[in-house]
Amino acid sequence: MVIKKLKNHLEERKREGIEVTLKENVQAKNSTTLLEDIILIHNALPEMNFDELDISTNFLNHKFSAPFIIDAMTGGTKEAAKINANLASAAEELGIGMGLGSQRAGLNSINTAETYAIARKKAPSAFLIANIGGAQLIDGLSIKKIKKIIEMINADAIAIHLNPLQEMIQPEGEPKYKGVLDKISWISSEINVPVIVKETGCGISKEVAIKLEIAGVSAVNVAGLGGTSWAAVEHFRAKKRKMHNKAELGKLFWNWGIPTAVSLIEAKSSINIPIIASGGIRTGLDIAKCISLGASLVGTAQPLLSPAVKSSKEVITAIDKMIYEFKTSMFVTGSRTVSDLTNSRHIITGKLLEWQMTH
Ligand SMILES: Cc1cc2nc3c(=O)[nH]c(=O)nc-3n(C[C@H](O)[C@H](O)[C@H](O)COP(=O)(O)O)c2cc1C
Repeated sequence: MVIKKLKNHLEERKREGIEVTLKENVQAKNSTTLLEDIILIHNALPEMNFDELDISTNFLNHKFSAPFIIDAMTGGTKEAAKINANLASAAEELGIGMGLGSQRAGLNSINTAETYAIARKKAPSAFLIANIGGAQLIDGLSIKKIKKIIEMINADAIAIHLNPLQEMIQPEGEPKYKGVLDKISWISSEINVPVIVKETGCGISKEVAIKLEIAGVSAVNVAGLGGTSWAAVEHFRAKKRKMHNKAELGKLFWNWGIPTAVSLIEAKSSINIPIIASGGIRTGLDIAKCISLGASLVGTAQPLLSPAVKSSKEVITAIDKMIYEFKTSMFVTGSRTVSDLTNSRHIITGKLLEWQMTH
């Protein structure tokens, strides 16, 4: 009875999360990623042909055709199964990675687990990342259950997501974060796939990045400010329930967080493990700027949701557009490979420079 109730609550939350993200404008409004403050240097003499570009890369011992992942979104409902199938088919065809949405719901029934497992069926060789919330780890989630989450999609890695702000605004939120770092450390030593820790749109500071590296995680996904705002999503969910104080809280913290470019620079300057840049990545030029700042992979979530509701072809078209923009950025910076781009020169201006100077 209790499990059934929890299952229904989780399903409703998942459904609403997708609905709100599709129907309302839940993007950061007065804040940006600050990637606009990065200037890549034009190279008028690239001394190569466009077809010589090699955008492949390696991440955690897996070869990617491009340094790109579809960031964690969904699972747990019938609609989510279709979305996951379309995203996974695209990831397989493009040779990129994909993160699944939080899999807690998948532990409750075989049918729900299928809404995640479909991703591995559609993407037998793509790099798939399992997902669970940091807040759930201290609810006594056992290693056995974490292994079950990994096995559900035969995952290449597991992401633990951190969302303290969302837990404060979410109508059913559970803002319990005491002991999460210890749990992350424990899981990193007990699990035999790489552990990635990610935020969900508020970024990771250098202090947190250092703690995570010491805890033994294999990679960090900064998921910074400038794209989807979960304070905004929860604002709309709270408003629907007439929870006025929570709705107001969502408005107040709509633009809260560390801009993606800042978070990436902070993490890169303080840790040695690979970094995924995400949060507000909307073009191939954004991808190029993140690679130039030292990201190993770059991820996008919300812009791929609407194409994924329709078909895998639509997802491929959307990602192909970004990849062509990325390749153009490589060509005009004279970067034949991804590591050439990482080593290329860039200029930091404006607010991003201010942020750097005050830290
Ligand atoms: C509909 C939707 C559902 C999401 N669900 C999850 C989730 O279950 N787990 C997670 O780690 N992140 C989740 N995210 C956060 C994304 O992975 C990403 O960190 C964030 O949306 C910022 O990227 P964006 O600006 O490209 O959307 C979700 C994002 C969206 C849009």
